[in-house]
Amino acid sequence: MNKNALKGNGDSRKSFKSFCIIGDPVSHSLSPLIHNSAFSSLNLNYSYIAFRVPQTELEESVYSLKKADIAGFNVTLPHKVNVINFIDDLSIEAQKAGAVNTVNNENGKLIGYNTDIHGLIAPLEKRQIDFDGIEILILGAGGSCRAALVALSEKTGIKKINIVNRDQKKLDKIISMGKELGLNCIPLNYDNNNVLKEVSLNSKIIINATSIGLNNELSPLKSNFMSEGAFVFDIVYRPVFTNLLNNAKDAGCNLIFGYEMLLHQAKKSFEIWTGLQGPLDVMEKSLFGIFGEPK
Ligand SMILES: NC(=O)c1ccc[n+]([C@@H]2O[C@H](COP(=O)([O-])OP(=O)(O)OC[C@H]3O[C@@H](n4cnc5c(N)ncnc54)[C@H](OP(=O)(O)O)[C@@H]3O)[C@@H](O)[C@H]2O)c1
Repeated sequence: MNKNALKGNGDSRKSFKSFCIIGDPVSHSLSPLIHNSAFSSLNLNYSYIAFRVPQTELEESVYSLKKADIAGFNVTLPHKVNVINFIDDLSIEAQKAGAVNTVNNENGKLIGYNTDIHGLIAPLEKRQIDFDGIEILILGAGGSCRAALVALSEKTGIKKINIVNRDQKKLDKIISMGKELGLNCIPLNYDNNNVLKEVSLNSKIIINATSIGLNNELSPLKSNFMSEGAFVFDIVYRPVFTNLLNNAKDAGCNLIFGYEMLLHQAKKSFEIWTGLQGPLDVMEKSLFGIFGEPK
């Protein structure tokens, strides 16, 4: 990355600020679209671009961004955990999740936040779900599952969170993390379809926190695995209707789309960077320009 690429342009652009996203791959990212439309709707002289940063170049890239006095940046796969080694401090939520997706330059210090946590919980809160006494099923034990557990640990009364994952070691780790957060987390075996079906049918909230669906893969949860009225959240946002959400629709469930998380995490990042209310409607409109509004 050119170290001077992000520097401001002298006095005439005093209020100019630069933001970016780093990841690999990153060319598919919708964050530049979302943030640039939010900036221009509020007449902010800010710009946001995407940089592909391979794993081996993470340290020097973060150093370059800091040196160029970047105002803030987002971090996506595969850097959400490793970036912690190269920034100055973490918010309490980012510490709990052990992952960062937003960095803010605060007087020359790079401070890491995790706005995926807000992105996950905001769509559930919008639906005014009563968490008391409910069972939740989460597929996956990666970064998004961690963010989900931190978010859910703020809710009282959850009876049980069942977590299923391919990699057993990662599953064990996330179960320990959930327990440390005060949640009653239970590991599930992926291969036992009967148990998965029973647990899934008892779940008021089902969250897909894996990448299953990104390439139109079939979900392990068929429509007869879900109870009518359950809330089914697929954090995969492209395609908008994944196989899981189509199955959930057939089962009469309430659908929560991955793009909702994308928008809410972006809104929170925007607010950390600017101190202004994030214009969710503008951000949503920019996304629907790409996706079309789901019907
Ligand atoms: N909507 C949003 O704003 C948003 C935000 C963040 C991420 N996402 C999406 O969410 C997905 C997960 O992100 P992440 O950050 O949690 O990734 P991550 O840390 O890499 O974790 C990926 C998870 O998916 C599982 N997985 C991947 N392929 C699988 C397969 N074929 N069968 C079963 N399990 C599979 C992995 O299981 P193993 O441990 O067994 O490998 C792991 O649990 C990505 O697709 C990402 O694009 C969306």
